[in-house]
Amino acid sequence: MSKRIALITGITGQDGSYLTEFLLSKDYRVVGMVRRTSTVNFDRIAHIQEAIDIVQGDLLDQSSLMDIIREYQPDEIYNLAAQSFVPTSFSQPVLTGEFTALGVTRVLDAIRHVKPDTRFYQASSSEMFGKVVEVPQRETTPFHPRSPYGVAKVYGHWITVNYRESYNLFACSGILFNHESERRGLEFVTHKVTHAVARIKYGLQRELRLGNLEARRDWGFAGDYVRGMWLMLQQDKPDDYLLATGETHSVRELCEVAFQRAGLNWSDHVIVDSKHYRPAEVDLLIGDPSKAKRVLGWQPEVNFQQLIEMMVDADIAALQRSK
Ligand code: NAP
Ligand code: GDD
Repeated sequence: MSKRIALITGITGQDGSYLTEFLLSKDYRVVGMVRRTSTVNFDRIAHIQEAIDIVQGDLLDQSSLMDIIREYQPDEIYNLAAQSFVPTSFSQPVLTGEFTALGVTRVLDAIRHVKPDTRFYQASSSEMFGKVVEVPQRETTPFHPRSPYGVAKVYGHWITVNYRESYNLFACSGILFNHESERRGLEFVTHKVTHAVARIKYGLQRELRLGNLEARRDWGFAGDYVRGMWLMLQQDKPDDYLLATGETHSVRELCEVAFQRAGLNWSDHVIVDSKHYRPAEVDLLIGDPSKAKRVLGWQPEVNFQQLIEMMVDADIAALQRSK
């Protein structure tokens, strides 16, 4: 039997790298779409690069998406590409809308015209809940996004639902709560903290400047979440699912766990800096993943403490290797 083919947009990102490893373990042929840059950065997929096909394309360019689908005939498309950093969405709101919102329509429209039986996964976000109207949040909770990023993701979610209902596409929206790992970008708060902990431990920096310490998130491990993405596309019918741990922790607790792992006291090093506050904040996120558990049989395997300790250990090990 010939291999199933999966196309991943955003393959060079955190989730793209874990999803690729997962799909290769399931014997897929994986095609990764990357945008053209003057300097190539394949750090997260360098270890598996030989096992995948890399193709150039861009969410801003409709014809590149159509050509790629025509050439590779993917059975499944995972649309992970996005401008994914919330503060940047305030400083570059139009570009964020182009990538993160309209980019979804471009992929869906390419599927509709070229290969309408392709199964489609959209990387939706708990940021869509924003100023939450119920706790915990479920698939049915109304959205109230608090950033241009969140607004763009709401558009991406609804256009996915709309193409499913209008054109009968197998299109799923996965509403994923924050998921992290040692491959997380350094600008996101978990990795910013664990990376700083390693550097403080080795005397390379003394202080860590953060914004709102009271913000609460439902943080899980990225490796668990990519399994959920795949499960959504293996069902008989397309639907939307929420993936979360069902636990919430503050940035302050994150600091406590991370510094403690390295034998440090967080309050000796953390400085609150208003520069890292956002024009509008998402104060509290906590998801109810019971539908995903019931229908997909999905549940996370790594808890908050294990995740943060794993990230601190990885950052310390990386620093030791580089010394
Ligand atoms: P990430 O590490 O920031 O990766 C984003 C990816 O998108 C990168 O590969 C980037 O390529 C690519 N990209 C950006 N603009 C593009 C464009 N115009 N054309 C083609 N590719 C483009 O994000 P992540 O954490 O892996 O998240 C994956 C997806 O899940 C994103 O859509 C994010 O918004 C969503 N999400 C993430 C979380 C989370 O907690 N991680 C939670 C909910 C939803 P370059 O390498 O060229 O920059
Ligand atoms: N990045 C950052 N840097 N965040 C900080 C800092 C800081 O110095 N200090 C406090 N925070 C707070 C932010 O205000 C926010 O409330 C929380 O930490 C988490 O911030 P991020 O790690 O940047 O993640 P996010 O929740 O805004 O967005 C991530 O998760 C979304 C899912 O809910 C991203 O991965 C999005 O792409 C994703 O959709």
